[in-house]
Amino acid sequence: MGSTTPLTNNKKLLAWVDEMAKMCQPDQVIWCDGSKEEYDEMADLLVKSGTYVKLNEDKRPNSYWAISDPADVARVEDRTFVCTKKEEDAGPNNNWCDPEKMRAEMTVLYTGSMKGRAMYVVPFSMGPLGSKIAHIGIELTDSPYVANNLKIMTRMGKPVLDVLGDGVFIPCLHSVGSPLEEGQQDVPWPCNADNKYITHFPAERTIWSYGSGYGGNALLGKKCFALRIASSMAREEGWLAEHMLILGITPPNGEKKYITAAFPSACGKTNLAMLNATIPGWKVECVGDDIAWMKFGEDGRLYAINPEAGYFGVAPGTSMKTNPNCMITMKENSIFTNVAYTEDGDVWWEEMTDEPPARLTDWKGNEWTPETGTPAAHPNARFTAHACQNPVIDPAWEDPKGVPISAFLFGGRRASVVPLIHESFSWQHGTFLGSIASSEKTAAAAGKVGELRYDPFAMLPFCGYHMGDYFKHWLEIGKKTDPDKLPKIFYVNWFRKGEDGKFLWPGYGENSRVLKWVIERVCGDGKAEETPIGLIPTNDALDLDGLDISESDLKELLKVDPEEWKKQIPLIREHLAKFGDRLPEGLKDEIDALEKRLEAS
Ligand code: OXD
Ligand code: MN
Repeated sequence: MGSTTPLTNNKKLLAWVDEMAKMCQPDQVIWCDGSKEEYDEMADLLVKSGTYVKLNEDKRPNSYWAISDPADVARVEDRTFVCTKKEEDAGPNNNWCDPEKMRAEMTVLYTGSMKGRAMYVVPFSMGPLGSKIAHIGIELTDSPYVANNLKIMTRMGKPVLDVLGDGVFIPCLHSVGSPLEEGQQDVPWPCNADNKYITHFPAERTIWSYGSGYGGNALLGKKCFALRIASSMAREEGWLAEHMLILGITPPNGEKKYITAAFPSACGKTNLAMLNATIPGWKVECVGDDIAWMKFGEDGRLYAINPEAGYFGVAPGTSMKTNPNCMITMKENSIFTNVAYTEDGDVWWEEMTDEPPARLTDWKGNEWTPETGTPAAHPNARFTAHACQNPVIDPAWEDPKGVPISAFLFGGRRASVVPLIHESFSWQHGTFLGSIASSEKTAAAAGKVGELRYDPFAMLPFCGYHMGDYFKHWLEIGKKTDPDKLPKIFYVNWFRKGEDGKFLWPGYGENSRVLKWVIERVCGDGKAEETPIGLIPTNDALDLDGLDISESDLKELLKVDPEEWKKQIPLIREHLAKFGDRLPEGLKDEIDALEKRLEAS
C-alpha cells in the first residue's frame, strides 16, 4: 500500500514531511499513490481495525459503514482558530490566537502524537489537475479513514505530485491525537475528544488540525483549505473562494448558462445542486454542491471550478422523493459515517423510506427499533461519494478552464418578509444582499421563533479573515471588469409561508421555474418590476404552466411590504455594525439607500 520511499523530489515537501515526522514520531511514513489498489487495501485495513463494516455487495457494492466516537460527530466551530499576527485581522467572525503561541501549544500536543501509527502523505489537488484555478495541498494524517475519504473527495496521489513538481503546496497537518503505546489495542475511531484544535495560519498558508477524525475537521481540503485559507489567498490575489454550489442550466434554445448559489445550512443547497427541472425542455446539471473557486478569464468574465471531486453530504432527510439524483450518486463506491446499519447489511437514515425498518443498529452501535425513541442515524450523518457518479453531473465539471458564471444566488429560510426572488440593482447592491443573507429559526429549534440568524454569503464559519474586509473584497472584485461582464446577483427564498403556516412555494424541482426567470434576466428578456428592495418578477413573468398555485398565493410569494421591511432595518444595521470600522462605505450607502427607498414608497 502506497510507498515508504518518497514519490517526489520537491525539496520543500521532503523537508516538511521530515520535520513533521520528527515531531509526530509515527512508526512509518507512507506516500499515497492514489491507486484503486491502495484505496481497497486501506479499506481492508479499516475493516480489520473495526473502523469500517463492509456493506452487503448485492445491496451497495464496494461501500463501507463507519460510526464515530460519539464525541466526534461534527465541525467544532468553538475549537476553530484563525491565527493572524494582529487579532483584528481575524475579525469578529473567527476565534483568534497569536500564531507563535498557537504553534508552541500545538507542538507540545503533536510531539509523539502519531506513535504506534502510520503517517500517510496524501497529495491532493483542489480542482482539476493542472487547472489555472486549482491549487495543490498535501495532507499528512495518521488516519487511514481520512486518507480513504480524501481519495473520493479530491484528485489524490502520484499524478498530483507530478503536476506539483518543484511548485508550492498548502501544507496540512492532521493527527487524531491518540498515540498508541507499545502493545496497546487501538479503538475503532481514535480521536482526542477533549482536546481538539482546527487551526489556520493564513500568513504561512498552513493548516494544523488535531484531535478530531471527522469531516470538516479532518478532511482538510474542504472547509479549512478550500474556504478558510483559500478565501484569504483569494483576497490577496483578486479571486473568489466561496461556499457556493455551481449549476449549468440549458434552456430549450441550447444556450447554456452557469450560476452559483450560497445558502446557510438547512436551506436545501444539496437538493438545488441536484435538482430535476420540472419545466419541459429545460435541463439543470451539477458542477458542484458546496464550494466554488472563481477567477477572471481573459475575456473579463468570472470562471468557476468545483475544487472538490466528491460529496461529503448530510444523509438524513435524503430520499428518492427529496433527491433521487443524490440517492443514485451514493448507490455504490461510497463511505457512510454515523448512519444506521440494516439487518441485511445496508444503510438507513431518517426519512430515507416512509416506514423505518423494524430493526437496525444505530449510529452508536446499539440495537434500534422504531420504539427506541432516539434517531437511528446521527442528524449530521454523512455519505462520501464520487461526484462522477451523479447522474446529473455537468459535462464541463472537470473543465480546467472552469465555467463562465452568469448569476449568483443568495438565500435563506424566511417564513415571511422576503419574496420568492428579487434581483439586485447593481453589483454593490448585490454585495449588500449577500451580506444580509439570513435564516429564521424554526419552532423546532431552541431560541425564539422567528429570530433571525445572519450568515453573510453563507460564509460566517468559513471566511478566513475579517468579514468586513471580505465585503470590501467583493466590492473590489466588482471594479475589476466591465459591469456587464459581472454575474447578476439575486436573492431567493423558497420558504415563505402563508397565513395558514403552509409553504407557499412547492420547492424542489419546481425551483427550476425561478431559475428560468434568472436565466431570462441574464439574457435581457425576463420581465421585472422595481420595488424598494430590488427587482421582482412581474405577475406574469414566472413560468407557472402546469403548476397548481393560486393567484393569491403567488401574490403573497412575491409581496414586498415596505412596512415589514422597515422593521428589518434596525436588525440589518445591528448585524452590520458587528463589523465595526471595517464595514466598507459601499455597504453603509446601501443600507441608507434601502431605508430611503422604503420611506419614499
Ligand atoms: C458542510 C457545511 O458540511 O457547510 O458542507 O457545514
Ligand atoms: Mn458546506
